Amino acid sequence: MVTRAPHPVSSDATTAARIHGPLRRLAWITDPHFDHATLDTWQIWVDGLLAEQPDALIVTGDLSEGDDVAFQLRRLAETLDRPVFFVLGNHDFYGKRIAEARRDIIQLARDLPRLVYLTDCGAVLLDQRTALVGDDGWGDAVEGDFECSSVRLNDFEAIDDFRGQAATARKAILQQQGRESADRLGEKLRSLPDSIDRVLVATHVPPFREACWYHGHTTDDHWAPFFVCGQVGQLLRHIAKEFPSRQFVVLCGHTHHDGIAQMADNLIVHTGFSDYGQLATESMLRLGEDSLRVPRQASTGKFSNCD
Ligand SMILES: [Fe+2]
Ligand SMILES: [Fe+2]
Repeated sequence: MVTRAPHPVSSDATTAARIHGPLRRLAWITDPHFDHATLDTWQIWVDGLLAEQPDALIVTGDLSEGDDVAFQLRRLAETLDRPVFFVLGNHDFYGKRIAEARRDIIQLARDLPRLVYLTDCGAVLLDQRTALVGDDGWGDAVEGDFECSSVRLNDFEAIDDFRGQAATARKAILQQQGRESADRLGEKLRSLPDSIDRVLVATHVPPFREACWYHGHTTDDHWAPFFVCGQVGQLLRHIAKEFPSRQFVVLCGHTHHDGIAQMADNLIVHTGFSDYGQLATESMLRLGEDSLRVPRQASTGKFSNCD
């Protein structure tokens, strides 16, 4: 079942969609950048995905760019004919203002009940003890050294909010986006039913430096401001301590390099792989009575079949 978040992105407080669980097999893909994939590549991936018979798909952002994001989501919903849980990544906002892009996708998700934009929804109850929550997240200039960084993202030209802004204004926008993501997630995570002891958190940007992988290493001070959502990370550390009997499993992407970071006994972060033009399902999550498994096949060879 999907409910509206206490303070969703949109002002319409009606129920966004209804999902009839339990959902036991969840395919996860991150950063598909569908606009870079040929039709043949897309069809091969979809055929393979359907052969696995997942109950739903989770997409952790960077589906495409501009108006093509809506096209790709609609194509997913119509082709898969099962729930598509998703958050948006920074590329999904290209060619628009951030609020405008979110508004467009919220409207699309209202029109297509199979599409569940997690940023705009409360917790999805996958079974009696497992919830799925999500938020876009943003590289929020909290970790690393923003002032000394020489990194200049395409985001600052491609997203209307940033274009022409000075560094101080860009930093303020980044921090605001991270703060709003953390606030929305916090409300969802603190209002879960008592029966929930397993929580999947879908977000685009790694919430910790330790989960911000690149070729098997974690980020430095130059990249961290743009590749870590520090405020979501701070929230998750607090929440993991507040609810020590709950297991929190975070799924994210953005760096296009994979890894696993165990941040606490009850908090683990899976960062997924991506390669422009290729499409590969990152994991087929399995929700069992006694376990929540996230099988991984590492592209880097640093791990294999880890849970
Ligand atoms: Fe990406
Ligand atoms: Fe990204």
